[in-house]
Amino acid sequence: MNQRLLLGLICAATLLALTPPRAASNPKPGTAAPSPISYSPRPANTLTFSKDVAPILFSNCAVCHRTGEVAPFTLTSYADAAKRAKTIASVVGKRVMPPWKAAPGPAYVDECRLTDDQIGLIQQWAAEGVKEGNPADLPAMPKFPDGWRNGEPDLVIEMPEPYTVPAEGRDIYRNFVIPTGFTEDKWLSAVEIRPGNRRVVHHVLVHLDVSGKARELDAQDPGPGYRTGGGVGFRSAGQIGGWAPGNVARRSPDGVGVNAPKNSDIVIQVHYNLNGKPETDRTKIGLYYAKGPVDKRARLFPLVTRINIPAGDADHRVTSTMPVPADVTLRSVMPHMHLLGRDIRVFATLPGGKELPLVHVPEWDFNWQNSYVFQEPVKLPGGSKITLEASYDNSDKNPRNPNSPPKAVRWGEQTTDEMCLAYLNFTVDSESLTQGKTVPGISDYLRKAGEARKKASR
Ligand code: HEC
Repeated sequence: MNQRLLLGLICAATLLALTPPRAASNPKPGTAAPSPISYSPRPANTLTFSKDVAPILFSNCAVCHRTGEVAPFTLTSYADAAKRAKTIASVVGKRVMPPWKAAPGPAYVDECRLTDDQIGLIQQWAAEGVKEGNPADLPAMPKFPDGWRNGEPDLVIEMPEPYTVPAEGRDIYRNFVIPTGFTEDKWLSAVEIRPGNRRVVHHVLVHLDVSGKARELDAQDPGPGYRTGGGVGFRSAGQIGGWAPGNVARRSPDGVGVNAPKNSDIVIQVHYNLNGKPETDRTKIGLYYAKGPVDKRARLFPLVTRINIPAGDADHRVTSTMPVPADVTLRSVMPHMHLLGRDIRVFATLPGGKELPLVHVPEWDFNWQNSYVFQEPVKLPGGSKITLEASYDNSDKNPRNPNSPPKAVRWGEQTTDEMCLAYLNFTVDSESLTQGKTVPGISDYLRKAGEARKKASR
């Protein structure tokens, strides 16, 4: 992303072409029954853990359910699975696990969903009394890479000091400032995060600060890092990375990079889940410099909508549309809401009117926020539109509602405030930095469009 052109989220919200809420076409969230699975049952009492169930669990669950990983128990042996067979059958049936929240749409990198057949197999095996079978039939456990996924980073930076979370209490969000020490601007092709302690690190967001504000906040707060109510507490010069269980940073394609200005600070926000024991974390960040010349900036644009959610409204819908000013290539989309969010959908409309789904998260879960990276980058010609539609449940029926009784909720940084946005990660096709062809930032374009509209309406 281009930190010089990108403005903060709140600011972007005022620049965007805001359209008034209208009834969205998707069904009311939270009320859809889980769709029945299509499964042809196998002959009775023939399914075993070793032959039928282990291959599914080892390749879809063990990545998180193994020693030292984020899940609270391992699923790497017959004993592990047998004692939880009922719960496993239930959570896979509801598609709660594996925690892949997007509905089927375009193919995403690292997409992790069980097929109906796999769900049916697990359920039949559980219902028929969890037979073990012959351990000789067990598949090999996949090799989980231990080191950096993108190879040795060009620069490894880490939290200046370890941070200890208490045994109990509410989840903790803490921001840590790590100076890059860059004496010149750098182009980055990947930012890989290595959580220091996977028992408690739930997710990590990486921001750039060029204002020095994060250092000030750090200095004012005793102990390592600083706390805010939810956001990072300064106007981010761009989110340049993120980690959630199962998410792996990817190098951007050759010739594409993110600019980190000299003297910038990297600020990581870590969400800690407490696990009953005090635990210490010191998370590391691996920075990979772009190889060869960078021709296009990787841009991150937040498509934002204004929100003001009345108390008690169980299905408050908002929508926002932005024009795509030039031919662009979209690489990923990351929706973001807080606790009241129920459903969020982002799609593009091509100049001819054809709709392209980008992402739909029908049961929003604050705990599992993914960046959805397209296997095939999506080409959007200038003149397309991108639309975000979301709905919120601010009723007392929503078990995640932080307010009892419900209160009107607006945009804000606290987790108990709300947000509504989708980060769009893209490059502009006509940009060629190596040939001296630069293009204006999309924020500039939208500001101009906004000014033109204002003039026209005077
Ligand atoms: C991306 C990481 C990840 C993957 C992949 C994953 N899990 Fe989990 N699982 C978790 C975490 C973390 C929890 C703890 C609860 C939570 O935070 O949602 C959990 C909880 C569970 C629970 C307990 C749920 C409850 O309500 O008590 C079961 C059962 C489970 N997982 C089964 C599975 C199965 C089966 C698979 C594979 C088909 C799987 N998980 C894949 C991370 C994962």
